[in-house]
Amino acid sequence: MALDYLKLNDSNSVRVPKEDLHKQVSAILQGVGTPEPHAEIVAKVLVSSSLRGVETHGVGNAVRYAESIESGEYTVPQTVETITETDTTALLSCGNGLGFVAAHQGMEMSIAKAREFGIGMTTIKDGHHIGMVGYYPMMAVAEDMIGMAMTNASRAVRPALGARPRVGTNPIAFGAPAGEERDFIFDMATSTIASGKIALAKRLGVQMPVGWAVTAEGEPLREPRGDRGEDWAMNPLGGTREQGAHKGYGLGLVVDILCGVLSGGGFGAQLSGGENMTWTMAIDISKFRDVDEFKAMMDDMVRELHATPALPGEEGVLVAGDPEADFEDDRTVNGVPVENGQYDEMRQKAIQLGVEVFI
Ligand SMILES: NC(=O)c1ccc[n+]([C@@H]2O[C@H](COP(=O)([O-])OP(=O)(O)OC[C@H]3O[C@@H](n4cnc5c(N)ncnc54)[C@H](O)[C@@H]3O)[C@@H](O)[C@H]2O)c1
Repeated sequence: MALDYLKLNDSNSVRVPKEDLHKQVSAILQGVGTPEPHAEIVAKVLVSSSLRGVETHGVGNAVRYAESIESGEYTVPQTVETITETDTTALLSCGNGLGFVAAHQGMEMSIAKAREFGIGMTTIKDGHHIGMVGYYPMMAVAEDMIGMAMTNASRAVRPALGARPRVGTNPIAFGAPAGEERDFIFDMATSTIASGKIALAKRLGVQMPVGWAVTAEGEPLREPRGDRGEDWAMNPLGGTREQGAHKGYGLGLVVDILCGVLSGGGFGAQLSGGENMTWTMAIDISKFRDVDEFKAMMDDMVRELHATPALPGEEGVLVAGDPEADFEDDRTVNGVPVENGQYDEMRQKAIQLGVEVFI
């Protein structure tokens, strides 16, 4: 979704080299007691998100996670426990700690199982936020595998035809490697937009477009809300009956079932804010066919799609992952924009914790 007015620019953000941002996130998390290897995982995922233009799930969230650790909401240091395991599957507990750490371990296990048996799958309970879900399939893609990850969340989205929030924004992410073209990285909330975009719109002082959210009476909600409640709800992907809201709603429940019901951690309406259960899968392409041939066919597919004539007024056809790869190309060279308020907040947190200030 082209939402350029929600992208950071030179007046609402400060550009910082990605290496300094990584060090700052890691230092803040270590400053509240996170073991270095775990802080490094969170820093990698958050910086990747900011680099890829997924502002809502980027480095600005580091302070929020640090505060969740300080308040005791997150158990840190955490132990990611394997509860049941077979050659191809595992049920893990995140130990109520950082969701990133368990999701990362879950995808590493899925990849290792796939390398041996062709497919690997993990589902994770007792978890929290895992950030930009697309990061985890990208781990599999880097190993010449197909990757997939999902995470559920507490109630924010109304079921199709419903007037109250009962489902999370429940994102689905899928990645597959290409050869010469960019990898296919599809990463989407099953609501019309990720809820972080409502929070971002509120911070930037812009109205929400019609279609993102409705009141309990079904009227479009334009003023971004910072709270959760029974008097408004986000729309499932599709939005209206005519445009297929039941499909976004159904996909949201697929996520709830794989992440929440299969793990036993709970479905959206059972979760409190900040609880997230996760599912990961890796498929080893080489167990099916020659990897280079797979990638060459991916290249053909991407080229065919890019060559599609665009609608009048549109610049051209994209493939999932293109917008984020463009941001990554620019921000790797020119620095990563950090929202002014979040930049100050990170510096203040580092000073308060007595850790080094890198930004
Ligand atoms: N951890 C959580 O609880 C949680 C919850 C919800 C969302 N999220 C994250 O929020 C982020 C944003 O989600 P979103 O749904 O707002 O994403 P989005 O709408 O910005 O993009 C969704 C996907 O569409 C692709 N895309 C965009 N424009 C395209 C075009 N013209 N043609 C083809 N593909 C195109 C993008 O590459 C991306 O893969 C994601 O990283 C998601 O994982 C996380």
